[in-house]
Amino acid sequence: MEPKFFLAVFLLISSTVSAEYIRPPPRKTLYFPWRSTPSSHPQQVHISLAGDKHIRVSWVTDDKSCLSTVEYGTSPGRYSAVSHGESTSYSYLFYSSGKIHHTVIGPLEPNTVYFYRCGGQGPEFQLKTPPAQLPITFAVAGDLGQTGWTKSTLDHIDQCQYDVHLLPGDLSYADYMQHRWDTFGELVQPLASSRPWMVTEGNHEEESIPIIKDGFQSYNSRWKMPFEESGSSSNLYYSFEVAGAHVIMLGSFTDYDEYSEQYNWLKADLTKLDRNKTPWLLVLVHVPWYNSNHAHQGEGDEMMAVIEPLLYAAGVDIVLAGHVHAYERTKRVNNGNLDPCGAVHLTIGDGGNREGLARKYINPQPEWSVFREASFGHGELKLVNSTHAYWTWHRNDDDEPVRSDQVWITSLVSSGCLDEKRQLRKILMGP
Ligand SMILES: [Fe+2]
Repeated sequence: MEPKFFLAVFLLISSTVSAEYIRPPPRKTLYFPWRSTPSSHPQQVHISLAGDKHIRVSWVTDDKSCLSTVEYGTSPGRYSAVSHGESTSYSYLFYSSGKIHHTVIGPLEPNTVYFYRCGGQGPEFQLKTPPAQLPITFAVAGDLGQTGWTKSTLDHIDQCQYDVHLLPGDLSYADYMQHRWDTFGELVQPLASSRPWMVTEGNHEEESIPIIKDGFQSYNSRWKMPFEESGSSSNLYYSFEVAGAHVIMLGSFTDYDEYSEQYNWLKADLTKLDRNKTPWLLVLVHVPWYNSNHAHQGEGDEMMAVIEPLLYAAGVDIVLAGHVHAYERTKRVNNGNLDPCGAVHLTIGDGGNREGLARKYINPQPEWSVFREASFGHGELKLVNSTHAYWTWHRNDDDEPVRSDQVWITSLVSSGCLDEKRQLRKILMGP
């Protein structure tokens, strides 16, 4: 046979093989060796946006007498300002947390590197504030946990240029083992101390015990988000604005019916929108509403029936969800059908937790589902300007981030959809 024929056959086989991606099994929970650090030194440092030009710094100390102060400035080791914050702690069965500090710093300049020290002790950290205007890039990964795959996902996010991390629920997978909240805080500190992490709750955050424990105690104590700053009465739902985006973090695991506080807060929040200032409207929620995976099938239907009409009337561009351990992207949809003025839904619950991937899909693939794949990975959303955004999904392919799905998304503001919905908004949200 001709060598050329051999070569052609070889190339055909190798191209077929490379197209067939072998999905990896879950990886083990990471081992965190005990480290001897002074009890006054900050641990588990993370930051989050806390209203216009402000950032909340959160950390834990074993020493309960440590102060909740943050010194900061734009040069290393030279702090031109200091803020005083608050602290909390909690007990959970036989576990007692360290002292959990939350201190808001600012006003800060946009797109600027700040150096900071927590409680006057320990190492210096640095953060970069997000830009005041578009463009802005979000890194997105849900259902993280703390396994070898989580590490892989975090390493990939660390390699990308981004401004804010969005996490649509299920953080530590502590699942009642409270020390795992501490190890999760340790795992994410390198990233979460340098860029704001904006999170909403998943089912793994609840950890309630009938009669003995209310839900979300650990989560609310450790991951305080700007709910007060956004007029919400609960850490389980809130909103924030950054660059040209208004981002709403909804709670799948707190009341959302028409008489609930969350529903009424959402209505009020949507009524206050100024789309000239924030042309992009994003929503995060843990349980997906558009999901063609067998896993968690239909779990979001009830919330979707109540909340989707409000989001549709307001002109939400993109809804990001987690919960299903896989990736899926939809076309623009509303009420279960294709709709050019509906939202694009992205399920990105593939951060790398110990439960592994959700591999079984409903066939045939629904008309609204564009791309679906059960792999670990993360997403990047770049809001380029007021009209265009670029979304990419990066699969952890043998620990290499491989861009596997990408799409340009045009804002509803620029498509004329918002003008069409004016009447609908009046009906749903009042004049
Ligand atoms: Fe979940």
